[in-house]
Amino acid sequence: MLNGYHLLTLTHRQASLDSIGQAIIRGDEPLAVLQRLKSQFGWEELLYLPTCNRVIYLFYTHQPLPNQLAHDVLAELRPELPAGTTKELAAKMRLLHGADAIRHLLEVAASMDSLVVGEREIIRQLREAYERCREGGLTGDHLRLLMRFTVETAKEVYTATGIGEKALSVVALAFNQMLETGLKPDARILLVGAGQTNTLVAKFLFKYGFRNVTVFNRTLEKARVIAEYLDGLALPLDALQHYTAGFDALVVCTGATEPVITPALYHKLLAAESGTKVVVDLAVPNNVDARIPRGFPVQYIEIEGLRELASENLAFREQERRKAEILITEKVRAYRELWHQRQVERALLPVVDDVRDAKERAVNEVFAKELAQLDPAARQLAQRMLEYLEKKSVAAAMRTMKEIAAGAGRHLAGVEKSA
Ligand SMILES: NC(=O)c1ccc[n+]([C@@H]2O[C@H](COP(=O)([O-])OP(=O)(O)OC[C@H]3O[C@@H](n4cnc5c(N)ncnc54)[C@H](OP(=O)(O)O)[C@@H]3O)[C@@H](O)[C@H]2O)c1
Repeated sequence: MLNGYHLLTLTHRQASLDSIGQAIIRGDEPLAVLQRLKSQFGWEELLYLPTCNRVIYLFYTHQPLPNQLAHDVLAELRPELPAGTTKELAAKMRLLHGADAIRHLLEVAASMDSLVVGEREIIRQLREAYERCREGGLTGDHLRLLMRFTVETAKEVYTATGIGEKALSVVALAFNQMLETGLKPDARILLVGAGQTNTLVAKFLFKYGFRNVTVFNRTLEKARVIAEYLDGLALPLDALQHYTAGFDALVVCTGATEPVITPALYHKLLAAESGTKVVVDLAVPNNVDARIPRGFPVQYIEIEGLRELASENLAFREQERRKAEILITEKVRAYRELWHQRQVERALLPVVDDVRDAKERAVNEVFAKELAQLDPAARQLAQRMLEYLEKKSVAAAMRTMKEIAAGAGRHLAGVEKSA
């Protein structure tokens, strides 16, 4: 029954990201710690998934669980934490059992519980976490089956719903809009500022083959890092005043609280070119003087509009999450049947071996003399008939047992639903 599955978790919904960090195993040998945890609590299998916004301990056991499991697990993992902190963290952790644990895992993998709904990164993290635990000997058949099903389900959610569609990051949205203006990869791009935001812009520029980039920054060294990455040119911020090579797009994002690009500076930067320019301002407050989009021919992309778009896109993804919830409900039911069938297969493995042994004995001992008297063609035919019977009898037994198990699974699901 699914009630062997349990999931202990601390997520961004209950705790700050700092607190989550405290429930994560420290040190160089997490596998040794997990092995200890598994044997101390008598769990058959264990999967450990730490990410920046959640930690999951998924385990399989039919042993009774201690009343204060979260507290005991934390005390084992982080014995150095003050007692008060352990108690506080434990109170925020959730412990889910059986179908609820399965449902939560499926929702996590499908990124329905993520900080940014629809962020696919979680599937990779889950796969890698499983591989590490499998290689460390922590997992077995129950988690193998669940993991395969979980990854397939997550992929299905992504294709059947729009949960991962429509960009949410302001930089991605800005870049999409830049592309929509028709900029070509050889466009002359000026990047003003070399902080985290423009570093992200640079990654998009790189990906789409833009290589004619000049980076201006107060600290020249940081401009150089981005410029080298893009095979571009790095200049100090002051050099903007004397820059006369013209441009097609200007992307501005610094921490300055006054406009960095004034109308007078913009006029100089135009270098007497008269075409429409693309101007992107990602700073808060804006770094491009408000008179520029009003007074010059520009396609202006600025952060406020992008933020509105990002929240519209987020609302769309939230709507899609509701569709995904319906799918997940079906999947939990499907997993129950799959799990029961798998138990039947496992229970039948000794029967399969017995049938094979009986066939071997028949050929090599019981009917050995009679078979030896047959001509080669008849002997081959007898051998093939035995193999056929072996396959058919195993398949028939498997089918009957699976039907019984599926019926039992449906019955149990009904009992749980009505309870
Ligand atoms: N678009 C978004 O998604 C997003 C997200 C977060 C923030 N922002 C906004 O983007 C701006 C920069 O954010 P960030 O994350 O890139 O910051 P960051 O990593 O801290 O980088 C700040 C950048 O601004 C420069 N700078 C700071 N003060 C300046 C000043 N007074 N004059 C000229 N340059 C100055 C810094 O130059 P040095 O290297 O010389 O220090 C650096 O290049 C802020 O307005 C922020 O509100 C946008």
